[in-house]
Amino acid sequence: MASGSGPGAQAPDGCSVELYRQSPYLDDLAPVREFLPAGASILELGCGTGRLTRVLLDWRLRPTAVDESAAMLAELPGGAERVLSAIEALALDRRFDRVLLASRLINHADAAVRAAFAACAARHLQPGGKLLLQRHDPVWLATAQPGLLGQLGPASLRLESVARNGPRAAMHLRYDIGADSWHHRFETESLSESQIEALLRSFGFSTIDWHAPARTWAVATLGPQRGPS
Ligand SMILES: C[S@@+](CC[C@H](N)C(=O)[O-])C[C@H]1O[C@@H](n2cnc3c(N)ncnc32)[C@H](O)[C@@H]1O
Repeated sequence: MASGSGPGAQAPDGCSVELYRQSPYLDDLAPVREFLPAGASILELGCGTGRLTRVLLDWRLRPTAVDESAAMLAELPGGAERVLSAIEALALDRRFDRVLLASRLINHADAAVRAAFAACAARHLQPGGKLLLQRHDPVWLATAQPGLLGQLGPASLRLESVARNGPRAAMHLRYDIGADSWHHRFETESLSESQIEALLRSFGFSTIDWHAPARTWAVATLGPQRGPS
């Protein structure tokens, strides 16, 4: 189970609202920028405080932002539709040009939850629509050692501990900004390209392409594979 502590509220997955509120955009979407055209409707799953939503709005997409934390959603910028819901339970009865599942949520340690995330994307995309999905780098998950990981905007990030069990890793991360510290404990599961492709194909996705860095972004198209034209 995930847990979090530190100043301010925490989402059920242990993420800190205050930490994400202070976190800047770090070019996270650059690898999939070409798939985010102005005017497209986009369902953003696990939007947090809207760190990425602001960028989607700047790029003139039309985001509908979903999170299970009301405290996170309260920080969203105006201009984005907001929906308080677990991703697994979301049923909006309309379809989008794009679905964004960022922040490595697909690496959830429970396979049933991963399947529910993929199902959610499939039932909210129109045929030919694209899912943009970010996973953990399996090499990083297999090799990261306790110590300073680096700087994320104003926050310094430390891996306090990691316990590996096959593809699973139980991690304890610590973020520091000035005198404030946040602790985030969670379990995650390493996923290969072929594992994610098999999951997505079982929900009707066809073409699946991988993008740098370290092929951590997948772009998957919903619907039958198109033949040569
Ligand atoms: C790591 S934060 C990232 C937020 C945002 N994507 C970003 O990059 O700044 C993950 C967010 O996903 C939300 N989340 C995690 N699991 C969820 C689920 N099953 N349903 C809805 N929201 C979820 C959490 O509440 C949290 O706000």
